[in-house]
Amino acid sequence: MLRTIFSQSSRVITQSAFTGARALSASAVSRDKVLMVLYEAGEAAKEQRLLGCKENALGLRGWLESQGHTVVATSDKEGPNSEFEKHIEDAHVVITTPFHPGYVTADRIAKAKNLKLCITAGVGSDHVDLDAANTKNIGVYEVTGSNVTSVAEHVVMAILCLVRNFVPAHEMIKKGEWKVADVAKASFDVEGKVIGTVGCGRIGYRVLQRLQPFEPKELLYSDYQPISKELEDAVGVRHVSLEELVAKCDIITINAPLTPETRGLFNKELLAKCKKGVYIVNTARGAIVDTQALVDAVESGHVAGYAGDVWFPQPASRYHPWRIMPRHAMTPHVSGTTLDAQTRYANGVKDILTRYYAKEPQQPQNIICEGGAILSRAYSKTGKIETKVSDSGA
Ligand code: NAI
Repeated sequence: MLRTIFSQSSRVITQSAFTGARALSASAVSRDKVLMVLYEAGEAAKEQRLLGCKENALGLRGWLESQGHTVVATSDKEGPNSEFEKHIEDAHVVITTPFHPGYVTADRIAKAKNLKLCITAGVGSDHVDLDAANTKNIGVYEVTGSNVTSVAEHVVMAILCLVRNFVPAHEMIKKGEWKVADVAKASFDVEGKVIGTVGCGRIGYRVLQRLQPFEPKELLYSDYQPISKELEDAVGVRHVSLEELVAKCDIITINAPLTPETRGLFNKELLAKCKKGVYIVNTARGAIVDTQALVDAVESGHVAGYAGDVWFPQPASRYHPWRIMPRHAMTPHVSGTTLDAQTRYANGVKDILTRYYAKEPQQPQNIICEGGAILSRAYSKTGKIETKVSDSGA
């Protein structure tokens, strides 16, 4: 039996009969310790809509404290003496964002004696060791769909920046120069190119929707959860193997989660199979691309340009080689944290917490792990909760 669920961002997910969406038993209804690991904003925190920072604590501090919970919000997350390391020992709930992720490793889970819930304020829960969380029946949830449009817009922007050779042109202007030929010698149109997405879930599909009006030669995707023929036809995309995709594409956008299968997927061998002169945009996760193999491929010219906003680990070291490799259009991890997205993921975190403390089932599309198993099919080919994206969600 299939049923249709309208997600927060109006996307439609078709789900197999799902029996696992039971309420978690909240061991302590009050007086939980809620640990938030969020980026520090400093002066920028005066912008009240910047909810995803340590200072503004997702706008949830007063609400949680009024229910008797203790809230610890910190950006100090690295090393044995960090606030994160100290507080995870007795925290009941950990909330973090992929932008400044508190890495919930197996070691940290082992010493977290009260931990019941890990919530991602945003999308992407690879910062949690899912297998370790499952051994202790820790629920892992994210605010599915909360920032997918934000990321899709960034992907299109990044593709244009690379293909049109925008970054050197802009830098030249700031330096007082005017060398049209230096920019034009490596500037192309998106029109007429073959473009492919690795992963065609909520973001991948929205990228295709936004690229279709550019009149590419062909749109391709690879994914072990193929979308329906109706959705394929709506954007004019064709399902192919990863090998065919990399061999044919002039532009590749990566939109799959970081899993054991995708970690290091774009290694030396796969990059070598890509078409010479390919542009690659990765807003999924930095660890999907092998750091040095990419640098080598860009330096040799095999990859014409690379862009995105994701690095590993984060924050990226100031000496990370992607900062200084040629022909890149990298930013810090910002694509999914527009102020519009922050409102959506802060509301989504509140919804997850409300359901948890009321012992109500979570919205299925937000469940990554529950009851000791990975339920999201995006994270496991055997997951029960399928991802299907409709036209109407954009
Ligand atoms: P989604 O769950 O809707 O779609 C992911 C798709 O990837 C699914 O269709 C899944 O089957 C597919 N997939 C999984 N493994 C694959 C593989 N080995 N090869 C091909 N396809 C595979 O997720 P959504 O919302 O589209 O997000 C995708 C990823 O983007 C997130 O997991 C996260 O890592 C990243 N992200 C980045 C953000 C940013 O600010 N840069 C913000 C939001 C998400």
